[in-house]
Amino acid sequence: MESNTAVLKNEAKEILLKNRRDGFTVPSEKLYPFQWNWDSGFAALGFKNFNLEYAIEEIRSMFSGQWQNGMIAHINFHSENETTYFPNFEFWDTQVNSGASQKPKTGGITQPPVFGFVLEEMAKTHGNDPVFKEFVSEIFSKITHFHRFLYTIRDPKNEGLAFIFHPWESGRDNSPLWDYAYDGFEVKPGDIPAYTRKDNTQADPSHRPLQKDYDRFVYLIELGKKHQYDGIGIFEESPFLVQDTLFNALLIKSNDGLINVGKQYGLDVAEIEAWQQKAKPAFENKLWCEEIGNYVCYDLRHNKQIKQWEIGGYTSLIAGIPSPDKAQLLLETLLEFKEKDLFVCPSFHTDNEKFDPKRYWRGPVWPQMNWLIYHGLLRYGFNEMADVTKNDIIALVEYYGFYEYFNPFKSVQSTESKGYGGHSFTWTAAVILDLIENA
Ligand code: SER
Repeated sequence: MESNTAVLKNEAKEILLKNRRDGFTVPSEKLYPFQWNWDSGFAALGFKNFNLEYAIEEIRSMFSGQWQNGMIAHINFHSENETTYFPNFEFWDTQVNSGASQKPKTGGITQPPVFGFVLEEMAKTHGNDPVFKEFVSEIFSKITHFHRFLYTIRDPKNEGLAFIFHPWESGRDNSPLWDYAYDGFEVKPGDIPAYTRKDNTQADPSHRPLQKDYDRFVYLIELGKKHQYDGIGIFEESPFLVQDTLFNALLIKSNDGLINVGKQYGLDVAEIEAWQQKAKPAFENKLWCEEIGNYVCYDLRHNKQIKQWEIGGYTSLIAGIPSPDKAQLLLETLLEFKEKDLFVCPSFHTDNEKFDPKRYWRGPVWPQMNWLIYHGLLRYGFNEMADVTKNDIIALVEYYGFYEYFNPFKSVQSTESKGYGGHSFTWTAAVILDLIENA
């Protein structure tokens, strides 16, 4: 009989292959039927365990949509015929920017920058393969150009921290954090064009963002469009303007990935090293919050920290940002969760009144987050908690299946039999495979 691990591994590979299209992978067949930015990085992370060529093609396909300004959009619309997702390429209308990608058409915003560290992960197993070396020489300058976009257009005051102007850019669309960032901003009738959501017909609406979240998502698309998606007017006007923990930590981690891979192959990394010298202290000084005992997002619109415990702060670990003392503080909340019989790691604090164990980023456990936290904990030598983080996500997938996100309460296992959001989900498969293969 096959062991549970072997069964999970095979299932993970099958999902990755089933979700693969013409050189790229969709996160979930109907709910997300195009190529998503950070999902694509995680897909490559999964593929590199059994098919280097597919991992390379995945990243190459993502960068085929790179804008002249360097941006990698959050979605590449490789197919223009899918009808199960809103907003599609027509709604984004990225032709307002003369440097936008024409083919594939894309969205007008970006997502957490993962490709630098994914490249480094690939180098760990394929560093000596000539095919991989060739790929590095092709992709290195493109990833660097993406980071350059973030450190210029998204950092007009040259602080070393990139801003986001749309919650979708954080990857954590409806986190309670953004309720604070909007600070009461509501969309009024007539402010936005009519639109029809599709997500709540593809997934249970009680697991998805609210209508008022979507109105604000659409408002911010219109704002981006008005400023060609890269104009300074976005920085000046957007009601949502945030220096996000997760976004900047993964940018720093990806800078490190580029520096390490670049040095291995004799490439010039001086520009990236200069970014790092600014970015790391800026993250430490501006985002650390003593009251919360974690890093928090900075609300640039209202000039204040968003003082809430939230999962994004944990990505500081994989980026090597906290001192050992601060890392210990981060660890303590995870230990509390474990003691309370919760799966690690809820995306928002379970004691907060805004916590919701089912609604997308307001509480559920997310597989790719566990992968990031697992590696962060290992970096600080917190091996026991790292194992809990890894084993919890494997146990959740074993019990419920390859869903997009999961209820953190162990107690609901007696009454619920499914996870939430999309199923046969690409990054769930990718990180499970990677965690098992590299145990
Ligand atoms: N996660 C977003 C959505 O739900 C897009 O990036 O559509």
